[in-house]
This record gives sequence, C-alpha cells and structure tokens, in this order.
Amino acid sequence: MPIDIGLTDEQRAQSVDALKKLLGETYALYAKTHGYHWNVTGPRFNALHTMFELQYNELWAALDEIAERIRSLDHFAPGSPGEMTDLATIKPDNGIPDADQMVANLAKGHEAVSRAAKQGIEVAEKVGDAVTVDLMTQRATIAEKTAWMLRASI
Ligand SMILES: [Fe+2]
Repeated sequence: MPIDIGLTDEQRAQSVDALKKLLGETYALYAKTHGYHWNVTGPRFNALHTMFELQYNELWAALDEIAERIRSLDHFAPGSPGEMTDLATIKPDNGIPDADQMVANLAKGHEAVSRAAKQGIEVAEKVGDAVTVDLMTQRATIAEKTAWMLRASI
C-alpha cells in the first residue's frame, strides 16, 4: 500500500540518507563502547566498566529508534553491521587503548554523532520532516551531554 504522510519520494529519500548516516555513526560507537566495557583496565575499572555499560545500552536503544524511523519513511534500514559501519566516520581501533584514551575516543565518537545529527536536522528541516528533526534533536542532545561527561572524566 502506498505511503501518504505529506512528504514526496524525494523528501523522504533525503531524510533517509541523513538517518542512515546517523545510524552508521551510532552503530560504530555502540560497538566501540561495548568493546571498551569488556577491555578497560586500571584503577578506574569499576567506574568506567559501569559507565560504558550505561552508554552502550542507550546507543543500542537508539539504533532501534533510528532504524524504525527509516522504516516509517517507507525505506528499508541497513540490515548488517558492515552496511552500517561503511557509513560511519568512527572507525575501530588497532588494539586496546588505555583507559584515558578510551574515554577520549568515546568523547570524540559522541561528538561525531552530534555532528551527524545536526547535519540531519538541517536536511530534515529543509524537506519539512518534523518527526525526523525531533529524533535527530534528541540524539544530538544525548550525544552532547554524554560527550561532556566523558570529557569531564579525563
Ligand atoms: Fe557486561
């Protein structure tokens, strides 16, 4: 059944492109954060192990919201980790960083998520997609708050 939510095919396609980029960054950051949860070492192990768990759970939930927004715009979401990480500027590490470097890498990752969300806000505003603007704004808000908490812990 054809979709009729007041956006043209072209408008929906532009929002979806921006959502896919945000999904990619969010997935790459999710994977990095979960890996750090496993591998962090040092005197702050307990605090960082716990903080990273809260963060990867939040990112995991966000993936579902972003992917289901893509589906609500009548497009298919990327169906594999590779398709998502191909879209991300956040890349895996070579090896295991020390605790401070992990925190710095995650702060940079949340800043990258925020930039992707704000680029998405611009696109979604231009095409009149207020629902995607709202989702992107929520993602930027959480990313910037999380980036602050990470920067403050170094
Ligand atoms: Fe765990």
